[in-house]
Amino acid sequence: MQDFPACGLDFAAALAQKAQIVNESLNALIEDRPQIQTSIRKAMLYTLNTPGKRIRSALVLWSCELIRGEITPAAKVAAAAMEMIHTYSLIHDDLPAMDNDDMRRGQPSCHKAFDEATAILAGDALLTLAFEILAKEIDNPATAVGLIRTLAEVAGPAGMIAGQMADLEGEHLKGSASQLRTIHLNKTAKMFAGAAAMGALAGGAHPVQIEALLAYGLKLGLVFQVADDLLDVSGTTEHLGKTAGKDAQQGKITYPKVVGMKESRRVAAALTAEAVDALDAFGPEADILRHLATALLERTR
Ligand code: IPE
Ligand code: IPE
Ligand code: MG
Ligand code: MG
Ligand code: MG
Repeated sequence: MQDFPACGLDFAAALAQKAQIVNESLNALIEDRPQIQTSIRKAMLYTLNTPGKRIRSALVLWSCELIRGEITPAAKVAAAAMEMIHTYSLIHDDLPAMDNDDMRRGQPSCHKAFDEATAILAGDALLTLAFEILAKEIDNPATAVGLIRTLAEVAGPAGMIAGQMADLEGEHLKGSASQLRTIHLNKTAKMFAGAAAMGALAGGAHPVQIEALLAYGLKLGLVFQVADDLLDVSGTTEHLGKTAGKDAQQGKITYPKVVGMKESRRVAAALTAEAVDALDAFGPEADILRHLATALLERTR
């Protein structure tokens, strides 16, 4: 089964090319830090190097290319920081106290490959290191501060963490469309908005361009999470690389549960169109971001 739909451009190849840049940047930044304690380094690298799709970090790079016509060194650091935060969020999301999932990216979750304490610390380490690299590895202090501020806002207690808390508090509740929107906006969409904005900042964008990319990223992230909810119902554990059917099992508030599969697909398609509309101010140089929206709607994993 294809992971992404076929389109005029080879989206899978374009993503693979960006994923390679992200992987090189991540591994170089960690290799440059021999002082990282051995056990924690092993656990960090274990989950970082499992085959994630690298969508958010690729978005950082694409967004920078859109603004600047090339990937700046700051964008590579920002992409690595974004992937570190995302990976930490997955390690913690899988912990027994949260979603209790033994499988991630087709391999044992961090707490299964190591142990719970190591997984907690590996998550903490990735979270902290993301901000260390933004503070240390970017030449222009104003760019560094902008990136740190953006990432802290989208990943923090009024962003991804707020969404994770609401997701857990919603377990076994009936759930309304508005609760669902709050959960998706915070746990997932803000990180996508942050990724788009960070790439733009790293490319020296104007505030209007950043606003447009934030709006695009939010819609894109909503599409992404509705698709994630749908795939939890329709996908297989083998293809997804994480346990299918878990949302229903854990009584999560999801789109399929609250509005049904058909309406969920309609909402996802409408959000995709809104994401594409948010790019109206850009020309054909934003086509890859338009393709990205469709790819996330139609993805199979
Ligand atoms: C999973 O994200 C977490 C959600 C917000 C649903 P991804 O599906 O992007 O995870 P990886 O990085 O590809 O494993
Ligand atoms: C997790 O959402 C979002 C995060 C912030 C990690 P899910 O719990 O639905 O993600 P999966 O399905 O485990 O990847
Ligand atoms: Mg979760
Ligand atoms: Mg989960
Ligand atoms: Mg899910």
